[in-house]
Amino acid sequence: MDSLRISRRSALLGATMVAAWSTSPLRAAIAATASRATPAFVDALIGQMTLKEKAGQLNLMPSSWGPGPTINPIVDTGGVDKQIEDAVAGKITGVFNGNGAEFHHRLQDAVTRRSRLKIPLLFGADVIHGYRTVFPVPLAEAGSFEPSLAERTSRIAATEAAAAGIDWTFAPMVDVARDARWGRGVEGSGEDPWLGTLFAGARVRGFQGKDLTAADAVLSCIKHFAAYGAAEAGLDYSTVDISPQTLHDVLLPPYEAGFAAGAGSGMASFNEINGIPSTGNHWLLNKLLRDEWKFPGFIVSDYTGDQEMIVHGYAKDDRDAARLAILAGCDMGMASNLYYTYLPGLVRDGLVPEAVLDQSVRRVLSAKAALGLFDNPLRRIDTKREAASMRRPASLALAREAASKSVVLLKNEGGLLPLPRAGKRIALIGPHAGQNDLIGPWAPFGDDAKCVSFETGIRTAMGDPKALSVVRGCEIDKPIAGGIDAAVAAARAADVVLLAVGEGQFMSGESQSRSSVTLPQVQRDLAEAVAATGTPVVVLLRNGRALALHGAVRDARAIMVTWFLGSEAGNGLADVLFGKVSPSARLPVSFPYESGQEPYYYYHKNSGRAQPPGPRQDYKTQFREAPNAALYPFGHGLTYSTVEYAGLELPATMPWNGAIEIAARLTNTGAVAIDEVAQLYVHDQVASMTRPVRLLKGFAKVHLAPGESKRVTFRLAFTDLLFSNADGKLTVEPGAFTVWVAPSAQAGGVTGAFSLVTG
Ligand code: BGC
Repeated sequence: MDSLRISRRSALLGATMVAAWSTSPLRAAIAATASRATPAFVDALIGQMTLKEKAGQLNLMPSSWGPGPTINPIVDTGGVDKQIEDAVAGKITGVFNGNGAEFHHRLQDAVTRRSRLKIPLLFGADVIHGYRTVFPVPLAEAGSFEPSLAERTSRIAATEAAAAGIDWTFAPMVDVARDARWGRGVEGSGEDPWLGTLFAGARVRGFQGKDLTAADAVLSCIKHFAAYGAAEAGLDYSTVDISPQTLHDVLLPPYEAGFAAGAGSGMASFNEINGIPSTGNHWLLNKLLRDEWKFPGFIVSDYTGDQEMIVHGYAKDDRDAARLAILAGCDMGMASNLYYTYLPGLVRDGLVPEAVLDQSVRRVLSAKAALGLFDNPLRRIDTKREAASMRRPASLALAREAASKSVVLLKNEGGLLPLPRAGKRIALIGPHAGQNDLIGPWAPFGDDAKCVSFETGIRTAMGDPKALSVVRGCEIDKPIAGGIDAAVAAARAADVVLLAVGEGQFMSGESQSRSSVTLPQVQRDLAEAVAATGTPVVVLLRNGRALALHGAVRDARAIMVTWFLGSEAGNGLADVLFGKVSPSARLPVSFPYESGQEPYYYYHKNSGRAQPPGPRQDYKTQFREAPNAALYPFGHGLTYSTVEYAGLELPATMPWNGAIEIAARLTNTGAVAIDEVAQLYVHDQVASMTRPVRLLKGFAKVHLAPGESKRVTFRLAFTDLLFSNADGKLTVEPGAFTVWVAPSAQAGGVTGAFSLVTG
């Protein structure tokens, strides 16, 4: 009843507000221009603005409306009433991570009625992998090797978020993450630039939709530009010291792909790159992004990123930080208030040309126009639509599909999986059995309590729900009195144990770097005790990063990586466990043997003393405790069948500027239908710069009925062989290339070679 009352009132306010807006002189001026986003309209508006109003358009603040999600250090906004007055006074361009349509309505209404220029506010939010319907964490979804899935889930996320009045999402995060110690790999697409590039574009298309003015479209923001994932030691926010070649060939491509897909904004990363913090990096934001990549949109700093240049030792004080950031091409400051406080004075004192300020304002106003906000500031704000848009059945069905397509089967000795739905007593044991840690670290609008837990999903799928016993055993990182004894008793009484262990959801994500990427000791103790009963164990890992597995966890009969699967976690998992869906995901990150191997990624270089296959030898590139390889490599993931790779076809030569077709024959040699992800890898044998041992250059998800055989083809183009040479120039060199079509970065598959020829 309450919500009905609120929505009626809001609807009423909405109608009057739009009417007020329609009769305003500014609206009339806009209507007179040929197109919403013409420079003439925007420039005419800029022409009317004071320096303070201009600075206000570049100042983004966290929302003051509680109980909002607390995912950042607290910044004093002065409270709701003060924030509304700030908006009316033109001190802010918008707010982010607010609490839904009602608050957005109050703010937009106040601005549209009472501010001098009636410039609509922009509402941002961290909608990373869902809004109220929570999809698997982006890293998990990347494991689907199905970019179109990410496009579909991003579309639903946008639809829900936009219904809550959100115009702009701080996503996708496209940082290549090669070090499992870094906690934020969970937000991205893993270690590989090719996969990351495809997912970046797909997510931008999903969020923005076909028409940015649509009420269900949100502007996307490519972050964190740039190289944020390359922090030394995987330590969040830390120094990035990287060669230009690696920067260009490995780290930058996903950002470029995201911008090329039409993302309207980007976020400057917290880190420095080779001595210069991104927020103040003129080369990065102005030269590379604008001059070279021709990006027309706007760049926002990360949360107080401008101010943090002082601690970096790059800016001498707040005012200097604002100056450096705006001159470098960072159009909007987030959460620091520095732009509003200092830009007018900096312009008056001649330290920042007014044209620079105008250019940034132009970009921000153009984005607001592109979002249709000048036509109708309430375009996305509608409490009725908000109430009707969340967690719709079709959205939850997609969450279930995405969950089942994100589960990676690492190991399945003796075909223990899939489990029969009936006839076996199952013990679900571990701190991830229950209603906790389901949404993952970066779903601030989601709710664990509304997710399908592993217990519920498994119980629902089983013929006889009484055949399931559930014991927590321990907490994520502390024991429960009598927990291990109860777990052992349950394991003894069962035919199979499902051991749900892993990381808590706040062990990954922002600022959650780990020096050891292992399971907490208490869970390892639980695993040892359960394994000692002799009951076969299926490990269900829940994690936001690649993990080094040890002891009874590593030695379990079967291991599934379930990441954080979101709203439909339990159902999606049960679909795979009981064989309704064949596992089809692949690892988007390599699982090392030991933490100390990090950063470990499959496309490392060979040293002059590369480790040959076989036992450890001295004077070779390897650790005492671990080979220079992954326990489970990038691209690895089993199905419930076996697949034979054969019949590689490729021409002997690739012509200069040309392309070749590479084919292989895949045969499902087992008795169940599967989806196999065939991967194309290439190695440039000799070049003027040493090249990685393998690089992914294509993949195909192939459905194979039992016994079915299919010819899979890949196109490899001359441009796929480009790399940065010693002078930093993109080049291709003639010579021999090895090719694999294989089920992982470390598997042999079928292999051959071709030569790139100049003639
Ligand atoms: C994060 C960003 C996020 C922003 C706003 C920062 O701490 O690095 O990814 O978009 O906060 O919540």
